[in-house]
Amino acid sequence: MSSEKFYITTPIYYVNDNPHIGHVYTTTAADVLARFHRLRGERVFFLTGTDEHATKILRAAEAQNREPREFVDAMAANWRKTWERMHISYDHFIRTSDPEHVAAVQTLVARLQEQGDIYLDEYEGWYCVPCETFFREGELGEGTCPDCGRPVEQVRQPAYFFRTSAYADRLHSYIEEHPDFIQPEARRREVLAFIESGLRDACVSRKHPGWGITMPGAAEHSVYVWLDALTNYLTAAGYAEGALVRRGWWPPDVQLMGKDILARFHATIWPALLMALNLPLPERLFAHGWWLTDDGDKISKSRGNVVDPWGAARDLAEVSGVPTRVAVDAVRYFLLREVTFGLDGSFSFGGLLGRFNADLANDLGNLLNRTLPLIERYREGQVPMPGPGAGGLEEAISASREKWAQCLETIDYRGALEAIWELLAAGNKFVHEREPWALHKAQKEVELDAVLYDLADCLRVVTLLLSPFMPVVAEEIWERLGLTAAGVRPVWKDAEAGKLPTGLQVTAGQPLFPRVEIDRALQRLTAEAEKAAAPPEPQEAEMETISYEEFRRLDLRAGRVLEVEKVAKADKLYRLIVDLGEEAPRQVVAGLAQDFAPEELLNRCVVVVANLEPATIRGVRSHGMILAVGEEKPVALVVADRDCPPGSVVR
Ligand code: MSP
Repeated sequence: MSSEKFYITTPIYYVNDNPHIGHVYTTTAADVLARFHRLRGERVFFLTGTDEHATKILRAAEAQNREPREFVDAMAANWRKTWERMHISYDHFIRTSDPEHVAAVQTLVARLQEQGDIYLDEYEGWYCVPCETFFREGELGEGTCPDCGRPVEQVRQPAYFFRTSAYADRLHSYIEEHPDFIQPEARRREVLAFIESGLRDACVSRKHPGWGITMPGAAEHSVYVWLDALTNYLTAAGYAEGALVRRGWWPPDVQLMGKDILARFHATIWPALLMALNLPLPERLFAHGWWLTDDGDKISKSRGNVVDPWGAARDLAEVSGVPTRVAVDAVRYFLLREVTFGLDGSFSFGGLLGRFNADLANDLGNLLNRTLPLIERYREGQVPMPGPGAGGLEEAISASREKWAQCLETIDYRGALEAIWELLAAGNKFVHEREPWALHKAQKEVELDAVLYDLADCLRVVTLLLSPFMPVVAEEIWERLGLTAAGVRPVWKDAEAGKLPTGLQVTAGQPLFPRVEIDRALQRLTAEAEKAAAPPEPQEAEMETISYEEFRRLDLRAGRVLEVEKVAKADKLYRLIVDLGEEAPRQVVAGLAQDFAPEELLNRCVVVVANLEPATIRGVRSHGMILAVGEEKPVALVVADRDCPPGSVVR
């Protein structure tokens, strides 16, 4: 890894839907590394953005009757908003619809055409729209997409190909000779095996759907969305302007992505493209695991089981009483602490609350709530002079800092957080053993000064090390320590014992992380969710009349119920997957669990309010409302009396 500049990328995300926890995971992980390298005083370029030319995006826009351009603009703005809310400190947000990027793709493709690395042939095979991936006959699983299991579309058309095969051997040797290039190790071996199984030339164009980048010199073809997307890493570094060298970012130091887009794309086509362009390869590709739902399904927007991280942060803020900004940091912490980076994990709100209590309210909260109030009580809030006997936590501080840095260099977030928590444990043990209250009582002022100084100093180092993970919380503690007011900036070289200026004025303030009663919190959220998902109360009072135009604003659709399952710990709620004839089926949460058994709902043709504003109910995204009749229990379901195609309009 270069010591002067640090170029880090996330994948660019498809904008057919809003971000979910999987995307937040990659982006937060990248953010932590970017902040870590900035803390060390390096020049950092952190790139993220949106992938906008996929077929599924065009279809999502059409399904909403919107112009694709207007649709992607609105969606890209949503993604930026999410990154702002999640405290993501990207340096550049690239969109594949940026003119600069379109120019970069066309320059790159034209060059590869000229040198014969991209050539025209005929493609015959299958295409999975949700995955935006080409498959050959033998690769299909029971006639469906081998990755996501959905139906595939048959394609037979003249198409352009990139000569991946020509680079297979070189790539294989490169990966063997550079053991750090692809990580974790298990993924590297998978990629090697994938290459050994034979790399075919990649199809890199599609029949032009009127949306996407046009192939240079072939107006009837558009550039395949993956070739378009991968080029973003070059565009942002100055490729289109011929400024790759001048800007000095190339090559990327770390590229993060999920394991699903490593072997087929980032570890083969991508480096092969760079080899064809004679450009240095990225230093390191790191593929992380998946966040799964409790039943082991990948959380994915294509599958309709989205966990909304912003929703989780808001729920956490609600049940704990902390500001949402602090709750966001707690979610960031949870994501990177809960699971070793590289492995799969499963997300649950109860798990988040558990870590909130144990790690934040207890361990971090304890050190904070002991140190600052004691300085207020015994020293009128002024950090005392260290004097003789200080430095009791010096060893723990330096051990923690070394481990933390080493872990972050090897992209082990969990290890880095554990290193901080070892220091917290040492700090808390120190209070317990030195008993500052007893020193005060015995009027051992010099010793008390030393202990209070050491504790505040330890808290300062904890805050520095925590700042890449929990930037808002770190800022808050920095301020309480009086460091902000004293104009002290957090820098890496100060992460050692004894660097705390004396005479700072500290403020204890309210506890940052009040303990949450987990059972009560879960019950409360469940009750609220049930209320939100309950069929609307019948109205006794006379209703206002509405115009036909007003009625028409309701988008009522026939939907087929594909899946039904109980929402965990919510007696009345079902999570349903409903086909509304759109590209991806919808997920709807409905308060029907006490009225119907799942099999009574399965396959029924129900009526759905399709344009109801989506909501997150008990951490489960609900998009639409199923209509039911009646006050009396059990309620009756509104159904069509004949089979109708999903998505049919109800008038
Ligand atoms: N647009 C492409 C990437 C092009 S990069 C040149 C794409 N976009 S995506 O929006 O579908 O997903 C992007 C990333 O989110 C991938 O790294 C993927 O692994 C990650 N995740 C999607 N679902 C996930 C989980 N359930 N868990 C963890 N990460 C997951 O692919």
